[in-house]
Amino acid sequence: MNIKLQILKAFREHPEEFISGERLSELCNCSRTAVWKHIEELRQEGYQFEAVRRSGYRLLSAPDRIAPEEITVGLETDVIGQTVYTYDTVVSTQLLAHEAAGQGAGEGTLVIAEQQTGGKGRLGRPWHSPKHAGIWMSLIVKPDISLPRAPQITLLTAVAMARTIKMEAGLEADIKWPNDILIHGKKVCGILTELNAESDRINYLIIGIGVNVNTLVEEYPPELRTIATSLRIEAGRKVRRASLIQTFCTEFEQLYREYLRLGFEPIRARWEAYSVTLGKQLTVRTLNETIEGRAVGLDADGILIVEDAKGVQHKVYSADIEQGANQ
Ligand code: BTN
Repeated sequence: MNIKLQILKAFREHPEEFISGERLSELCNCSRTAVWKHIEELRQEGYQFEAVRRSGYRLLSAPDRIAPEEITVGLETDVIGQTVYTYDTVVSTQLLAHEAAGQGAGEGTLVIAEQQTGGKGRLGRPWHSPKHAGIWMSLIVKPDISLPRAPQITLLTAVAMARTIKMEAGLEADIKWPNDILIHGKKVCGILTELNAESDRINYLIIGIGVNVNTLVEEYPPELRTIATSLRIEAGRKVRRASLIQTFCTEFEQLYREYLRLGFEPIRARWEAYSVTLGKQLTVRTLNETIEGRAVGLDADGILIVEDAKGVQHKVYSADIEQGANQ
């Protein structure tokens, strides 16, 4: 670990405490001049320190930057998010994550960008990804599961994000099938899972997650204002992106472990508790047909079951859904 990371780690482990230059130099195994130099560099990057003679330094605030050290220092996971690649402007983090996975990037690797110029949404739609306002990230996972089970990982991701939003922004999030996260009926997060597989085996999944974190209403294009929101708009305060990413990694890892051990059932129960789709009258548009019916549940594999007026049950794998009232 480099000196800057070690300094940040020391402050994270002793929040709000003063740490002397001497102690920092021992912890980082470097001279006090080197400590001072790195603290100055961190100040340039937007970290604020209070320096008091004889007491040392105290970290007052960290910038809302998406930098690897902001994510890995203090990250309480074993695997998820332990390797992070960050970029300023990219076309899509999905493309970079596919490339990284193809070159051997391991389970839990995160690819994050400050801005995407060609952000991809579900069903071939564009995803608005303005600079510094949100989290645009792709997570590589390599679960040892069969191909038809892949959608379960997307449902799991939605549960992990709904929990994260509660913890980081204090907001109750809802999940609209399959994985739109809504607050007060407006979309705050979207998830797009892509996979690379051979015959029935998954080589890797790329889970693309877009969270509108600090976007202001006026920053949305007019056509999105009525359907999209951000954590900042809903919570009435800014939310620190790096800590949201850390919390998400922890929540995801915990659910993912449970899923690999016990299967989908516990995840299904949790997803259903957040769902605003079950029980609703839906218009379901798939590539081949449009079905009108009521969402009656998820089957054991996580596929949505929609019952039409004749009582016929349809399995819905991938579709655009329009939700009506509870029925
Ligand atoms: C949706 O349509 O709801 C899914 C949106 C997924 C957006 C994320 S942002 C990070 C990753 N990179 C992309 O290009 N798309 C996903």
